[in-house]
Amino acid sequence: MSTNQATGDPAGPAPERTPNGQGALVVEGLTKRFGTRVACDNVTFSVDYGEVFGFLGPNGAGKTTTVRTLGTLLAPSSGTAMVAGLPLTAENGVEIRQRISVMPEAPGLYLRLSVAENLAYFVGLYELPDGRARIERALKAVNLLDRADDSCRSLSKGLRQRVGLARALLNDPKVLFLDEPTSGLDPVAAREVHELIDALRKRGVTIFLTTHRLAEAERLCDRVGIMNTTLRMVGRPDELREQLFSKSLEIRTREPLAQPERVLAGLPGAESWHQTGDGTYIVAVSDPQLAAPEAARALVAAGADLLSLSPSQHSLEDVYLQLIDTDVEAQSR
Ligand SMILES: Nc1ncnc2c1ncn2[C@@H]1O[C@H](COP(=O)(O)OP(=O)(O)O)[C@@H](O)[C@H]1O
Ligand SMILES: [Mg+2]
Repeated sequence: MSTNQATGDPAGPAPERTPNGQGALVVEGLTKRFGTRVACDNVTFSVDYGEVFGFLGPNGAGKTTTVRTLGTLLAPSSGTAMVAGLPLTAENGVEIRQRISVMPEAPGLYLRLSVAENLAYFVGLYELPDGRARIERALKAVNLLDRADDSCRSLSKGLRQRVGLARALLNDPKVLFLDEPTSGLDPVAAREVHELIDALRKRGVTIFLTTHRLAEAERLCDRVGIMNTTLRMVGRPDELREQLFSKSLEIRTREPLAQPERVLAGLPGAESWHQTGDGTYIVAVSDPQLAAPEAARALVAAGADLLSLSPSQHSLEDVYLQLIDTDVEAQSR
């Protein structure tokens, strides 16, 4: 840091902070009811400037409602939030909307108009200065400069989504809300959107991304919140895995072990074991690094043909299913 200041060669702008040190989003106890239906219930989290925060949950989990509430399009039933440094109140609506952008699931473009005409329309609507330069910057950011004069009707769904992203970038938002930005896109188009999001992150844009695609959350997000009306857990994907799953070794042998209990239960730090398939065993251990070499020796000594032995890898999908499963059980009670 100090060398950067001394040489005047900054590695990049420091993440912007509000004077009181708060983050881009600080949400406390946010609840939104529609009549008797609770769409999001007592949701609390915060997002730092420069972070890509994933909001992961199944259909109907309350993701869009949360985005629309933080985006000042719905009034919360209760709870408080700071959005891009401002308290979320009706009076602050205009100023908040100047600092943020929401890209809804459907990009909402005028199909008869060209790409540039659509963006010009929104520049006018938002009363933004320097329209021409702004539009060019936004189109450049989504690699669409060469399609500026094409009518939106002629564009594929993936390209329309990119125009939607360009529209969301017009006001240089401090916080960008992307609601299921790849929903309905084919893998190639989805990947292009992922690359654009990566590029925005490198530019330091704070992104709040809702998705029900686990791989997307894992690939793009610094942290994720797992949402199903209430917010179940928040953390980095690896933290969530650590918190939710006990440590274990996965062992595969060519033939099932003759006496698995004798070999597996005696491993150092072994807490329990179970068989998941023919010749596949999971052993819960306190320290996989310590247990793994010992396990290899014990298995070989017991005459097993060892195929593989590794600490169990849990994906974000495992975390997600575990949390959503827990929920289904809770609901059926
Ligand atoms: N305008 C609305 N009026 C009534 N119910 C709504 C409205 N918007 C959303 N809901 C309900 O709130 C719940 C959460 O919806 P939503 O936020 O769209 O979830 P998600 O985006 O995670 O799929 C759903 O049960 C949905 O039917
Ligand atoms: Mg939604």
